[in-house]
Amino acid sequence: MNTFYVWTIGCQMNFADSWRLERELGRLGFREAPRAEDADLVVLNTCVVRQHAEDKCVGRLTSLKGWKRRAAGRMLVVMGCFVGDEEALLRAYPYVDLFLKPSDYVSLVHYLCDHDLLPRWDTDALASPLREDGEVPVSMHVPISYGCDHHCTYCIVRLRRGAERSRPLPEIVGEIRSLVGRGVREVTLLGQNVDSYGHDLPPPAGRERPPHLADLLHAIHEIDGLYRIRFLTSHPADLRSEVIEAAAALPRVCPHFELPVQAGDDEVLRRMGRGYTVAQYRDLIARIREQVPGCSIATDVIVGFPGETEAQYQATFDLLEELRFDAVHVAAYSVRPGTPAARLPDDVPQEEKERRRQAIDDLQARIVGEINAQFLGRDVEVLVEREKKGRWEGRTATNKLVYYPDEDRDWQGRLARVRVTWAGPWSMIGEVVRKA
Ligand code: SAM
Ligand code: F3S
Repeated sequence: MNTFYVWTIGCQMNFADSWRLERELGRLGFREAPRAEDADLVVLNTCVVRQHAEDKCVGRLTSLKGWKRRAAGRMLVVMGCFVGDEEALLRAYPYVDLFLKPSDYVSLVHYLCDHDLLPRWDTDALASPLREDGEVPVSMHVPISYGCDHHCTYCIVRLRRGAERSRPLPEIVGEIRSLVGRGVREVTLLGQNVDSYGHDLPPPAGRERPPHLADLLHAIHEIDGLYRIRFLTSHPADLRSEVIEAAAALPRVCPHFELPVQAGDDEVLRRMGRGYTVAQYRDLIARIREQVPGCSIATDVIVGFPGETEAQYQATFDLLEELRFDAVHVAAYSVRPGTPAARLPDDVPQEEKERRRQAIDDLQARIVGEINAQFLGRDVEVLVEREKKGRWEGRTATNKLVYYPDEDRDWQGRLARVRVTWAGPWSMIGEVVRKA
């Protein structure tokens, strides 16, 4: 086997895992093929958070059946949240060689070594991932915990990813230090619920309690050469005041929060198993905005949850209008087999779910358009990630996408001061402000 292709859909965690897996395969001597059909080894990194995502995975899996059967020695691997009951999966997809639990790409590396499937033998093959070589992007996602201990009744992710497991703090800090040494300037700390980071770890020597997210933010903040630290996703019931304080006090911690509310009605929140009320959520947002002025906040919302009445949906709409988020990721409720909510009648018709989803999307486009218009004529600091179609692309600390032209300088990985000349809901355009 010489070539590989990794196909990925879903959350940032999947993309972070795939990035690491691709680097590992490259290190083991594999070359990346341009298409799945041209590769010897294909890995599908899957998502089943909603039916639509699951359908895409099934489609991709089915489309590769012919490819797999046409030549001996090809290998098809499926990882990610599609992988639940492995025996049932093997019966349904007998042509798949290996199913791996979400984020368990290291088992693939072991499998390839154990079965002598490497293009060339490398005695270091089992060394820890992310060695000190290879190119890195300006901004990288770094998983800090896997799994989730919450019990949101609609969510299949926690069933597939299992209980929360935090990575040891020194391991994360060491990895980020090495990434920064290789050119990374921004890290996004990833977890299903970053706010409960550390609760499953032993206390470090000399301390009485395990580390939490604020400790991690402080430790990472010490790393020279790192410009920005982001973290997601937060859980409204777990976000500690120390994290808000860290975002306020530590200049490299971005003043940006991803805080899913999911619904604006207490009864719906209770049935979703979210563990907070609308009033508590509203207070939390007020506290964050008071302590971190100028911060941005994004949220997630589900419309059409079982039993959601028009009035309950309207309460969500009104809350979003009142709180004016910088981004709202809105999804129509999708029944996920095996979750507690799947036992409730899915009684909001599909067209009605779609109407509610679209209305919130439209509301949010207006709100964020208004928020972003306030930046017109103002200067913002942009961390430049790449050049795209003749313009530099980067984001503000508050996660606003900004483009600007400048042929005179290579800006990748640098902080630029940009005067905003155009602002739309999804991005802004500006011109670089040169130092006098
Ligand atoms: N950990 C995050 C949290 O605290 O809510 C979210 C993780 S979840 C994988 C990502 C988003 O997908 C959720 O915030 C929710 O809005 C959406 N989602 C999850 N299950 C869903 C379902 N059954 N139907 C529709 N949307 C769903
Ligand atoms: Fe899912 Fe809720 Fe955790 S949405 S990933 S159970 S916080």
